[in-house]
Amino acid sequence: MATTAAPIQLENSVTEFLGKPRKMLIGGKWVEAASGKTFDTINAATGEVLARVAEGDREDIDRAVQAARRAFEQGPWPETPPSERARLLWRLSDLVDQHREELAQLETLDNGKPLFFSRIVDVPTVIEVFRYMAGWATKVEGNTIPISMPGAKYFAYTLREPVGVAGQIIPWNFPLIMAAWKLAPALAVGCTVVLKPAEQTPLTALRLGELIQEAGFPDGVVNIVPGYGETAGAALAAHPGVDKVAFTGSTEVGKLIATAATGNLKKVSLELGGKSPNVVFADADLDSAIPGSANAIFFNQGQICTAGSRLFVHKSIFDKVVDGVAEQTKHFTVGPGIDPATNLGPLVSKEQLDRVCGYLESGAREGAKAVVGGRKIGGTGYFVEPTVLVDVKPQMKVVREEIFGPVVTAIPFSDPDEVMTFANDTVYGLASAIWTRDLSKAHRMAAKLRAGTVWINCYNVFDPALPFGGYKQSGWGREMGHAALELYTETKSVCAQL
Ligand code: NAI
Ligand code: MG
Repeated sequence: MATTAAPIQLENSVTEFLGKPRKMLIGGKWVEAASGKTFDTINAATGEVLARVAEGDREDIDRAVQAARRAFEQGPWPETPPSERARLLWRLSDLVDQHREELAQLETLDNGKPLFFSRIVDVPTVIEVFRYMAGWATKVEGNTIPISMPGAKYFAYTLREPVGVAGQIIPWNFPLIMAAWKLAPALAVGCTVVLKPAEQTPLTALRLGELIQEAGFPDGVVNIVPGYGETAGAALAAHPGVDKVAFTGSTEVGKLIATAATGNLKKVSLELGGKSPNVVFADADLDSAIPGSANAIFFNQGQICTAGSRLFVHKSIFDKVVDGVAEQTKHFTVGPGIDPATNLGPLVSKEQLDRVCGYLESGAREGAKAVVGGRKIGGTGYFVEPTVLVDVKPQMKVVREEIFGPVVTAIPFSDPDEVMTFANDTVYGLASAIWTRDLSKAHRMAAKLRAGTVWINCYNVFDPALPFGGYKQSGWGREMGHAALELYTETKSVCAQL
């Protein structure tokens, strides 16, 4: 594990963007918070202030919801044909493409993640998501329905209509990707949106807001209000003028959102936490299972809801796999994300660093042993060592709770049925993985896993066409693919007597 600090030359547009206090986007105008308040967003690699941002609260959310309502009901948006919505989304994806490097740099500075990944994962994913959903805009179809009621003839059909104003609350781990996952399907079907980015990472969503305007979306179709969860987020979730709320974040806050939504029974979709099992069978190809299992937990510093944080390994190969995963951490270059050579960056915030270190201490106290890592990396920024824990027991907090950091617990098993019971022994059900050369076993096991995604001989493979979401306390609903359209549409049955 090496550390490095060589910075790159920032794009001029990034320096300019960071140089001015950032405002919020309401009704097509960039405005200050009604309260005049601002908050700072922090460079995760240095702990220094990166930019000052308008702090939205209840009143700003209210103005944004009114703007979104007006844009939904009046003006050009309800009259915009699907093909034009598709063109707007495609134009937006082209603009993101043209501003690739700028967006990648901003994302890295704000979140901390290695520029290497912002360039090859975050920004390209955003482009693909907008393009994929642009394709659906012209394909939101209803059905014709045969009616059997006697005495008359009927003609009946269904329409899929946009649900209305969508409130979207997103987290800090993939700020730009999460904005695209939320915005793209909503805009494809003709909703209007109030988006609240995470307080830790508001910058790329705000830059995206400028590109949304440049693409030509009518005023008020997308409103972006940065601010804190307890204030702006809670106001959006509870707002009676919002028809649907979509949230990605912690299970704890997901429950608060569901409760807040009961006031007007707005539709709710939730993508929440995980404690995903990653199961390596004795017949696995270890040349791919070992690096794959390391990637499963260390990608994005472990700050990903699908993190393969419980590694189950057949006892016959346990030491080999655990040592192999530990060995992989030696190849990491830890440093500020903005250095292109870095492939393991800092955690997003001091708060997240403290959370993860709290889990490392609790694991040690309860008797877990670190094969590698186990500590904070000293100096500036929020760095923590990639960690593999063994000698863990099912009841330990490090095994049961989402850590959201580069910490994996490794557990041996002896037979396939036993390991499926272990794998499903969690309140979560987001993702899971199986490594084996036995095709039949792989699909038998895939059927047994209670999780929204099962990866076989791979990990963290996402696609705009592949539905994504959770069983159990990992959430409600599926994003991506055709399934995402259902989150943002209502079905209307029209029945005519002929
Ligand atoms: P969080 O769930 O508090 O924050 C996510 C988003 O929800 C942010 O935009 C935040 O401002 C907003 N929010 C917070 N409280 C709210 C409320 N009462 N009403 C409405 N919106 C609210 O997550 P946090 O505190 O940043 O991280 C804590 C833990 O949550 C992490 O350690 C991790 O375990 C989990 N998490 C999971 C994510 C996922 O992708 N599933 C993403 C981020 C965090
Ligand atoms: Mg929180």
